[in-house]
Amino acid sequence: MEKLWGGRFEGKSEAWIDAFGASIPFDQKLAKQDITGSLAHVKMLAKTGVLTNKEAEQITSGLNTIQKKLATGELEFSIKNEDIHLNIEKHLHEEIGTVAGKLHTGRSRNDQVATDMHLYLKEAVQEIIEETHLFRQVLVSKAEENVDTIMPGYTHLQHAQPISFAHHMMAYYGMLTRDQERFSESLKRIDISPLGCAALAGTTFPIDRTYSAELLGFSSIYENSLDGVSDRDFILEFLSNSSILMMHLSRFCEEIILWCSHEFQFIELTDTFSTGSSIMPQKKNPDMAELIRGKTGRVYGNLFSLLTVLKGLPLAYNKDLQEDKEGMFDTAHTVLTSLKIMTGMIETMSLNKDVMEQSTEKDFSNATELADYLANKGIPFRQAHEIVGKLVLACTKKGIYLQDISLEEYQAITPLIESDIYPTLSSKTAIERRHSYGGTGFDQVQAAIQRSKLQLESEKTKKAYER
Ligand code: ARG
Repeated sequence: MEKLWGGRFEGKSEAWIDAFGASIPFDQKLAKQDITGSLAHVKMLAKTGVLTNKEAEQITSGLNTIQKKLATGELEFSIKNEDIHLNIEKHLHEEIGTVAGKLHTGRSRNDQVATDMHLYLKEAVQEIIEETHLFRQVLVSKAEENVDTIMPGYTHLQHAQPISFAHHMMAYYGMLTRDQERFSESLKRIDISPLGCAALAGTTFPIDRTYSAELLGFSSIYENSLDGVSDRDFILEFLSNSSILMMHLSRFCEEIILWCSHEFQFIELTDTFSTGSSIMPQKKNPDMAELIRGKTGRVYGNLFSLLTVLKGLPLAYNKDLQEDKEGMFDTAHTVLTSLKIMTGMIETMSLNKDVMEQSTEKDFSNATELADYLANKGIPFRQAHEIVGKLVLACTKKGIYLQDISLEEYQAITPLIESDIYPTLSSKTAIERRHSYGGTGFDQVQAAIQRSKLQLESEKTKKAYER
């Protein structure tokens, strides 16, 4: 009998059909978790008296040997053994003989695979949380260095109002903070043990699910055995949180790509994060930012792929569920590497502060200042808006800006305008005066930076983020 489940089969199997059903080419990533899960299971079987201590010791020592071989890269996997669970079990048979067959008492591959996935994702999400934290630290230090750096703020990609570059960085800080929170909150639903749900209905053996869950470091166990082996919502939530995070990164990347362009020239990336062209010698392309933007697509794809796999799937286990793995591995890898690249890219980019600031001086991003100025003098804001709109139109026809209009011309429109209009129209004043909470006012940005530093510090005391 070659296959571990071969008992009820008479016909020959076909290698190419077996290969279609096999998951070992990709689920070997779960080897560590699979062995860890088995070690806990066998310890529980001994504690509950389902296995003798001697049997448990033999199995444990066999699993330990396999674990060592895995660490040194000696462990080989064969497609003939279908998946990671059967591969490990086969190795165990080779190590310790027939007693290996007792490991699978009171368990099924269905709860085994779900346990492996929970263990894997718990670790991956913790790593993502740490990387997000490190990225947020870099955003805050970039902001701190650039409170006084003035840039145009945009709506519709048109100059809208001048802002502090730090304010722009802190906007991403806010988004990434919520991303990190989403991952942290999701841990509660990843940190549940399905082990002992068995195939679908539980088991007749007097197992102790709470004990094996504790050994594996899970905070709780699935209440319902059918639920525990059937659902993959914890992976969906991960893919969804990852999609949102990648969406944020892709927006940031799009801005970096724009800012590097000849038209903007706001920033320069270091050579490490850029590539050249094989034909155009002058090119320095922001490939890494483009790739993160592009990889966002595959993460969305992984979310939709699993949503579609699960849709309409009857309880409990179906082989369709084997399709849950590649997208999860791929997403964890993509999110982690994208975060690392972003962190390095933002940390090392240099800013052309003069270009940024100057681009707010030859534009109409101070039009709101003039309208607010008039409103402050008692003109209803709607009317002030109309007056300034007409002035902007006149200026565009003449090829001048609001700050180029003489005091006489202003006073011809309304004597309410006095010489203090000129400092009012400067970008710096425009920013300075925006004291509203969370606005771009320099004092507000400073306060936001201070708050975020406290926030990052308090996260550090809760978890060791520093490497
Ligand atoms: N390789 C399978 C998977 O990833 C393991 C579970 C197999 N269970 C089964 N009843 N065929 O889903």
